[in-house]
Amino acid sequence: MSKATQSEAEPGVALEINGQDVQAREGQTILEAAREADIEIPTLCEHEPLTNVGGCRMCLVEIDGKRTETACTTTVQDGMEIEVDTDDLWDHRRTILELMFSEQNHYCMYCEMEGDCELEDLFNEAGLDACEYPLEYNDIEVDTSHSEITLDLDRCVLCGRCVRTCDEVVGNDTLTFKDRGLETEIVADDGVALGESSCISCGACAQACPTGAIYTNQSAYRGREEECDVVTTACTECSLGCELEVYTNSGRIVKIEGVEDGADAGQLCEMGRFGLLGDSRERIDEPSVRGDSVDVETAIERARESLDDADTINAVASSRLPTEVTEAFAASMDAYDASLEVPGAKRATDERRIAEKVAPLFNEHAGNLRASGPEAVLDAEAVAVFDTSIVDTHPVAASYVRRAAKDGATLVSVDADEDRFASKSDASIESGSALSRLTEDSVEVVEDDASALADSDTETLINAVPALEDGGISIIILGPEIEEEDTLINAYALAAMTDSKVLSLPDRVNSFVDGIGADDLHDDAEVAYLFAADDREDDLDRMVEVARTADTVIVQATRESILTKAADIVLPSLDWFERSGTVTDASGTDRELARVLDPRVAIDSDREVLSELAEGDILEVKP
Ligand code: SF4
Ligand code: SF4
Ligand code: SF4
Ligand code: FES
Repeated sequence: MSKATQSEAEPGVALEINGQDVQAREGQTILEAAREADIEIPTLCEHEPLTNVGGCRMCLVEIDGKRTETACTTTVQDGMEIEVDTDDLWDHRRTILELMFSEQNHYCMYCEMEGDCELEDLFNEAGLDACEYPLEYNDIEVDTSHSEITLDLDRCVLCGRCVRTCDEVVGNDTLTFKDRGLETEIVADDGVALGESSCISCGACAQACPTGAIYTNQSAYRGREEECDVVTTACTECSLGCELEVYTNSGRIVKIEGVEDGADAGQLCEMGRFGLLGDSRERIDEPSVRGDSVDVETAIERARESLDDADTINAVASSRLPTEVTEAFAASMDAYDASLEVPGAKRATDERRIAEKVAPLFNEHAGNLRASGPEAVLDAEAVAVFDTSIVDTHPVAASYVRRAAKDGATLVSVDADEDRFASKSDASIESGSALSRLTEDSVEVVEDDASALADSDTETLINAVPALEDGGISIIILGPEIEEEDTLINAYALAAMTDSKVLSLPDRVNSFVDGIGADDLHDDAEVAYLFAADDREDDLDRMVEVARTADTVIVQATRESILTKAADIVLPSLDWFERSGTVTDASGTDRELARVLDPRVAIDSDREVLSELAEGDILEVKP
């Protein structure tokens, strides 16, 4: 019974649970109806974003005094009388739990999960303090081959939550069940070590596992959930802006999880779950001028003098910054008449212009071509991907593509040298040659005149891509490496012709903030102001290039890098977990950034520096 059934269910079923009148909707499971009525039923293999399989039998309920069924897979019927807490039911549950205990290694005091474990909670709820069966666990070797995830399968209760997560949420199918009966175990890729498997290190299986059988190395033994504070914020590492639940303990971040009831169904990529935890680059905690530490006021004064004296100034700002900081930076650079570039802003500006111009040329009825969000891919019957690097740059969006393909959507990789989705899905993938011909023509048409393309030609071309054109929802994804205007024109022309939606995925959130940062920079400038914030080495190439053509280099950054080493003036900046404000994701939705920990540097906010720099022009200071 899928979760979708719950939302599709109709009202109108009256039943009794534990003697309490309950109104349910047709198609709901007994478990769903009980939860809505605040009646608790024990569960183990059930997990909110996943399909229910009725495997663990922990949720057994008695129906009409005659039969027992699993509440997670049995739908409600009018007039049902259900008991969830009889002595017989708890005897059943205790027997199952004792068998789990005897067949596996569940000595909680030695387990990473102790205190956060759903199985341990069930042992306690069932009042189990001894086991009648002989202890005969298999002594399976712990798999430590993966740098971020450990498999300790002697603690595995075979609930299958990890397998279903890897399949249904991540679309990766790395984890499966092997063998049957007592020999059953969870394996990666039919039996290789996890670190050598097709695992994409998203960590979703560890989040879904109810026991200590899968855990993440960086978070292990760093505090139970009840000892932690949790702050929900957004990830700025790519343009999806996934929601993060950040756990802190004693002023340290100990764990990052995805939000399971959010749009991302608990998914994060390796960077969001693990990369943000383990940033070992040295922190810049105080300003410096030509290598000497100075106070904030002195560094700002020197920066102001350099900017005042310069006739040509190039400025580049990270697209990881909150909207409020990007706006403040634009205002402060405007005060010095600087040219400002934000990576991705030019493409975003081009796309808006092209979408407005192209759509009516190819389809006068085409409205807004923008996809409502990455989740729209899940409902698509055809997906065309321009730039399959999204497998690396936007792994969560790539997982939506894999899932759509597994559900039967046709996947077209446009001009991809490498078929990067094929090995993970059983969907047919077309080479895209017909599509390429079509898109070459669409550039010419836009450059000349739409009327140059006769109606019959249009028909022929559209027929070349029936997958996109044939009914249903089709999505065209534009990856971050696409910069050429021709390719953008092609994609939007194709979308207009085939009634497809475009999901444009620039590198980061906030590539487009009110058109800020689409200026052409000077070939060389007297001063370069490079607001790198927490950009990583891979992101700094453009700023390094701009720095090389400037006489004086001012860098505002969170961590040491090749850029800060070359800078004349270095100003500190907040790290991702110290910021607050908003960012706009790829679908144009604002996501909230919340401060997780207080800053441990010489400034409390980036805007404070920028306001000082503009001599108070930006008076409203927020983090
Ligand atoms: S998995 Fe849970 S029940 Fe088993 S040892 Fe660990 S904490 Fe205890
Ligand atoms: S980390 Fe992600 S890809 Fe790897 S096995 Fe777990 S769910 Fe699958
Ligand atoms: S590893 Fe965890 S999630 Fe996977 S089957 Fe075992 S107990 Fe369940
Ligand atoms: S929770 Fe229903 S069978 Fe496992």
